[in-house]
Amino acid sequence: MANLFSLAGPLLRLTDPEWAHRAAIRALAYGPGLVQRRADPPPLGQDLWGLHFPNPVGIAAGFDKDAEAVGPLFGLGLGFVEVGSITPKPQPGNPRPRVFRLAEDGAVINRYGFNSLGIEAAEKQLARWRGHLLPGPLGVNLGKNKESEDAAADYRLGAERLGPYADYLVINVSSPNTPGLRALQSRESLAGLIAAVQDSLAKLEKQPPLLLKIAPNLTEADKNDIAAVALESGLSGLIVSNTTVARPESLRSRHKAEAGGLSGKPLFAPSTALLAEFYRLTEGKLPLVGVGGISSAEEAYAKIRAGASLVQLYTAFVYQGPGLIGRIKQGLLEALRRDGFAGIAEAVGADHGKKA
Ligand code: FNR
Repeated sequence: MANLFSLAGPLLRLTDPEWAHRAAIRALAYGPGLVQRRADPPPLGQDLWGLHFPNPVGIAAGFDKDAEAVGPLFGLGLGFVEVGSITPKPQPGNPRPRVFRLAEDGAVINRYGFNSLGIEAAEKQLARWRGHLLPGPLGVNLGKNKESEDAAADYRLGAERLGPYADYLVINVSSPNTPGLRALQSRESLAGLIAAVQDSLAKLEKQPPLLLKIAPNLTEADKNDIAAVALESGLSGLIVSNTTVARPESLRSRHKAEAGGLSGKPLFAPSTALLAEFYRLTEGKLPLVGVGGISSAEEAYAKIRAGASLVQLYTAFVYQGPGLIGRIKQGLLEALRRDGFAGIAEAVGADHGKKA
């Protein structure tokens, strides 16, 4: 689609990455808005949690942190949009520079540290989008303030205030850039945190499904604990995964030693292996969202076969621009046809043989 974002894309990729990110959001937010889009072919559609996803390709959290460009993002052909992470109070995040392009590696390292305009600003934006007929589900990803000592209180507040605007909610305990955050993935903290958020959701007229986004850097014990808690607590799904603190030997860019979370191509193999592991650990009972390093239809399809019902993009979308979305959808359709699946739902977890 020839919009400001796609025209400016190649130029933006030559500039400072944070500036380019802001410019992309602005171009989208002030662009033509929620343009008419062609309906997606039915085999790409799925119903999950009582929501209809017209196609399985979404934009991952962190791109539209403050929910400024939801409608235009849908206009690019996405099946769902996840905004955030949103923290209760506004906070600036870490000092700049805090985003680095590792172009040779098809990767990015970021240490934004949850820069967020906060719940109040997000509420205003989300109220605006509620007035639009969006073509797919809108997810809201919740974070905590850096200085907050009571993480559960932060997530509860987010759930209570933003839950009414969300088709699904995400507890993000997996950003590597907020001190202590990932410790919330341990069994006891997690069970308590989920219970606390569910408690505040119970007060809402309508409870959105609650998902948990996890890190790729987990011990075997962590994985078993998270899977057990997810099943016991009645969580609706898992998002696998956030960025990694690992630095594979293969990295070539001069930025490879920057602190922060690594995303893009080098994350594909480990995040897909983790996704497959979680599909097994949760016995295929929970819808999983596969994210990490998807830059082509084949990779999106590999995530689906490994167990993802939905997939999300970030880094490759930045490098390739909005054309990637159409290419993935077209490639998925062809792959389904080739393998004899009537729709995405049939291909989910296909690598595991018979459904668990
Ligand atoms: C992210 N990601 C992220 N995730 C999240 O839950 N909350 C956030 O605020 C952010 N912020 C963020 C900023 C930047 C610059 C990047 C690159 C990523 C993680 C993102 O949603 C996704 O999980 C990873 O980037 C892996 O997917 P890709 O980028 O390899 O497709």
